[in-house]
Amino acid sequence: MIDKIPHEHRVLTIKEVANVLKVSVQTVKNYIYQGKIKSFKTPGGQHRILESEMNKKLDPSFVNRDMETAGVELKGNDLKELMDVSALIVRAIVRAIEGKEIPLFLGHSIRVAKLCKQIGWDMGFKDEKIDLLNMAGLLHDIGKLNVDDAILSKTEKLTRDEYKELKRHPQFGSEMVEDVEYLQIFSPIIKHHHEWYNGMGYPEGLKEGAIPLNAQIVGLVEAFDVIRCKNKAKGKKNIQDSIDEIKKFENIQFASNLVGVLENVAKKEIQQC
Ligand SMILES: [Fe+2]
Ligand SMILES: [Fe+2]
Repeated sequence: MIDKIPHEHRVLTIKEVANVLKVSVQTVKNYIYQGKIKSFKTPGGQHRILESEMNKKLDPSFVNRDMETAGVELKGNDLKELMDVSALIVRAIVRAIEGKEIPLFLGHSIRVAKLCKQIGWDMGFKDEKIDLLNMAGLLHDIGKLNVDDAILSKTEKLTRDEYKELKRHPQFGSEMVEDVEYLQIFSPIIKHHHEWYNGMGYPEGLKEGAIPLNAQIVGLVEAFDVIRCKNKAKGKKNIQDSIDEIKKFENIQFASNLVGVLENVAKKEIQQC
């Protein structure tokens, strides 16, 4: 009850806590239901949170929302199981999206996820971060759910307006996962997977190290898969042809060190389109 609160503690609403933590109102409610944040109720039944409780939540040892370290922070069998089940659900959703697109790229997100994992292994990432990359690969184009089917399935060249609409899928996707607590860590990866190393990509024109590393990896792998599929359709099945095309964009679209890792990994693992 409010009258039992020590005077020295400021009392916050759920919305105020959400604003400070930069999460959604639903996420703060989830924290309360999961016992991660203690709350009390007003006589009118509204949740209130002591500022000291919120400060615990801001402590980096309690939670770290930085996307580069999130995979390391998220440990435990429960999370592993959740990720496995989530991956199955996401694969089903991704198949539904890809069913609306031209058949040339069928299986794109599953191949991207697999190659992202291999790159993670090659770069010596920990298991948690490799799982994160796998899921990011599956999720990266989920925003296409919000793109008009007629655009996704169009075989002719897209008009300028259609292309503009298609280019909104990273933003759509990042907003979709923001509302799901365990998927929020993928939001920056999804949002920035079409940024270019030289700052000429979208949606924000981020440059070089400002682009989250996992987004750079997903962006590189997905471009490679698209090139591989197009080359295969033209009868160019040699993997080196696709790598050579990627190399033309070193330090333009992709960081050259990542291109080197991709070349190593891709040569070992010939993908099927
Ligand atoms: Fe994409
Ligand atoms: Fe993609």
